[in-house]
Amino acid sequence: MKNVLSRIFPEERNIPNENNISLIHQDGYLCDGEIVKWNGETESVYSPIYVKGSSGLERKYLGKYPLMSEAEALKVLNAAVSAYDNGKGKWPAFSVPERIKCVEVFAEEMKEQRDLIVNILMWEICKTFKDSQKEFDRTIEYIADTVNALKSLDRNSSRFVIEKGIIAQIRRAPLGVVLCMGPFNYPLNETFTTLIPALIMGNTIIFKPPKIGVLLHSPLLKAFQNAFPEGVVNTVYGKGEKVIAPLMKSGKIDVLAFIGSSRVADILKKQHPKPHRLKAVLGLEAKNAGIILKDTDIQLTVKECLSGSLSYNGQRCTALKILFVHEDIIDEFISSFVRESENLKIGMPWEKDVNITPLPEPDKAEYLTDLVNDAVNKGAEMMNPDGGMFNQTVFYPAVLYPVSEEMKVYQEEQFGPIVPVVSYKNIETPLKYVQESPYGQQVSIFGRNHDEIAKLIDPLVNQVCRVNINSQCQRGPDTFPFTGRKDSAEGTLSVSDALKVFAVRTLVAAKDTDLNKSIIDAIVRERKSKFLSTDFIL
Ligand code: G3H
Repeated sequence: MKNVLSRIFPEERNIPNENNISLIHQDGYLCDGEIVKWNGETESVYSPIYVKGSSGLERKYLGKYPLMSEAEALKVLNAAVSAYDNGKGKWPAFSVPERIKCVEVFAEEMKEQRDLIVNILMWEICKTFKDSQKEFDRTIEYIADTVNALKSLDRNSSRFVIEKGIIAQIRRAPLGVVLCMGPFNYPLNETFTTLIPALIMGNTIIFKPPKIGVLLHSPLLKAFQNAFPEGVVNTVYGKGEKVIAPLMKSGKIDVLAFIGSSRVADILKKQHPKPHRLKAVLGLEAKNAGIILKDTDIQLTVKECLSGSLSYNGQRCTALKILFVHEDIIDEFISSFVRESENLKIGMPWEKDVNITPLPEPDKAEYLTDLVNDAVNKGAEMMNPDGGMFNQTVFYPAVLYPVSEEMKVYQEEQFGPIVPVVSYKNIETPLKYVQESPYGQQVSIFGRNHDEIAKLIDPLVNQVCRVNINSQCQRGPDTFPFTGRKDSAEGTLSVSDALKVFAVRTLVAAKDTDLNKSIIDAIVRERKSKFLSTDFIL
């Protein structure tokens, strides 16, 4: 492995032409329908991929983007506030079909940028080429599903209800200005799973790409500009304290859609002068456990746990981040897991069938090494001989056993290629772990006996928000609710839930009198209102 790692990074001439990348100098930001030219300070972007040059290994330079200051951030805020105009703006006042049209125009333009975006995504965050393509396609599918979900939501609201002598029409109305911030591991998809529903419900948007994964959004600025009225989508770039703090402190952000750490979410929420007016939609940390019962199908379990813990190097909020294995099968499980893990291909993200790729977060290999050393010093052993070896940003997966409570890796979300394994005798051990964990996203149970599994389901469904049986933890399908308890999430996302999260139920109601009936009848017949309407989207 040492040899493999020492030769892991390419020379420029070895990078296949079709996967290479041209410099991206993003010199503008989107504000009030204009791509405003930026001549100020910039941030340079380097890939996690090192390239061998004459002076040794150097991270490949990808380009740069504007490092905006408070003044520009406030201009962007004003653009979003004016476009919303207390709900009187063009966009919030648009009918649902008008908004859908704009989103469809955007999706068409976005599709034209597929190859470019996929390639930048791959270089910026080192997701494999195949998975980068999947992320893009999943996002396009999410947009189409959102449009369909909104149509059916609107159809259900296109009728009146008469209850206890009151006639009403109940719809979902927008909330105001939404600040959308996604994570580096799904910079496109997870940003868009909040941005698109927030937008299509009639809110105006300020969108800040994650710290890592900025440039891939650059080809979309024009599409946003072309598809939406001015001020509806605006972008900010730069350091959080400079560009996000002033937005939050202004009190003019109505919804914070943030996927990242609870530490940052808490800071942002506290900056708002009226926290009760801020709606938060948060996707935060998780430490999902795999509970492996003694009668499990080892082959299937190993396959699910391997992909659950190591796909995209374990950098998924839904990754299995600790495995509890019954003591009777621990040796068989570990040897099979290690054997299978040795088949994982390590390399550059464009290589065919590659699994383990460079890690984009700064100093990540050092952090993971610290977790490994801490565990080893406290009695864990490295189960795979090459585990924990690294060269710069490439870290070979480490399978650690026996992991116990006093080790950091037992509690901390490693968000990387370390697989901590705990052996248990009594099922109370993993149950207690899940119960005492500060996180509550998902869990996976592996076994064959339905009685045993049934006994675990009921205590676990009140600890986490998805219990997976003989299947790894995951977000998809995107039509399923995605959320968490405790420190893991606030609000529920899914194609249809997200539409509800970014809107508030609002109704027009009147006592059932002849006068009121004639007023409502005339408004509807003469199509005087977009809200009070029985129009049915076909
Ligand atoms: O990082 C968290 C993602 O929402 C996980 O999504 O389970 O589809 O990889 P996934």
